[in-house]
Amino acid sequence: MEGSEILLEELSNALGPSGFENSVREIVKREMLAIGCNIEIDGLGSVVGRTPGTDDGPKIMLAAHMDEVGLLVKYVTDQGYVKFETLGGWLDQAIINQRWVIMTKGGPIVGITGIKTPHVMNAEARGKVFAKADMFIDVGARDRQDVIDNYGIVPGDPIAPQSMFSKLNASGMYLGKAWDDRAGVWVMLEALKRLVNVRSLNLYGVATVQEEVGLRGAGTSGTMVSPQIAINIESGVAGDYPGITQDEAQEKVGNGPGLFLHDSSMLPNLKLRDFVVETAEELDIPLQFNVLSGYGQDGAAIQKTGTGVPVVNITVPTRYLHSHNSVVSGSDLDGAVRLITGMVQELNENKVQEIIGF
Ligand code: CO
Repeated sequence: MEGSEILLEELSNALGPSGFENSVREIVKREMLAIGCNIEIDGLGSVVGRTPGTDDGPKIMLAAHMDEVGLLVKYVTDQGYVKFETLGGWLDQAIINQRWVIMTKGGPIVGITGIKTPHVMNAEARGKVFAKADMFIDVGARDRQDVIDNYGIVPGDPIAPQSMFSKLNASGMYLGKAWDDRAGVWVMLEALKRLVNVRSLNLYGVATVQEEVGLRGAGTSGTMVSPQIAINIESGVAGDYPGITQDEAQEKVGNGPGLFLHDSSMLPNLKLRDFVVETAEELDIPLQFNVLSGYGQDGAAIQKTGTGVPVVNITVPTRYLHSHNSVVSGSDLDGAVRLITGMVQELNENKVQEIIGF
């Protein structure tokens, strides 16, 4: 991979459920400051970094969300088990029997969503999916008082999946949690690094908060930046493994970055879509398309800021989203960086006027 693998690992491992993105925010700030960006934070905690450019150039916004799906402490039972609410969209069967980190004021507490042993279950019960409402997190406490006295867990504490980054053998793929959307955050930061010395740009890199609970930071940071054009960078939905069909998702891991043509939250600006396709052709970057019937992304909130903004959603195809273990490819990550860098370099005043006009 051309970009920083260490940064990719750090971003994946960082704990940052929606609304509790602080550790990711610190990484983003560090990386932006290191290349000379000017940083502001919006009222919800999104990081808005501006490269040292010119005020005159077209205002371009690159966005990716820092938060990941997680849980939140609801209450502690008398027996000392932690009951939880979900943050973002989870399948019930992806929650059970996993390791978690409860992010308390006093530090991290590891826990496990315990699963009933099959030894005591009849055949019918064994075939059933466990319901989220029946689940709990076991932190090893004796009872509720033990949790209060010795674990420091209080209602409202965020809970992040525990899952460490690793390479997926020699495939050039990476296995880890939170690729949605740390893959996008990585692409945004790597693109900024390549564009930071282009003085003719008026370029903002934005790491948003609370995407998974309703595109909240994208609305506030989009209002703050007020861009003329925005490129949202997301983890795409790969449809290349058994049990998922081309009708459901068309991206394949390793076949290049994706361009969303439809999702339930946004239609892309068509001139901007064409510009993405042209740039990919010129730079010889393989490009995939995706048309989804579900799925929402930050571009939808940015698109609706001000009097309306042309936006596209460019993706890093990802397998097994919203779980402890997802897969992305280094070649897609690099392709997305090259594509976005190439686009931004071509976005002069004429090009921008051509795109935003009707
Ligand atoms: Co996402």
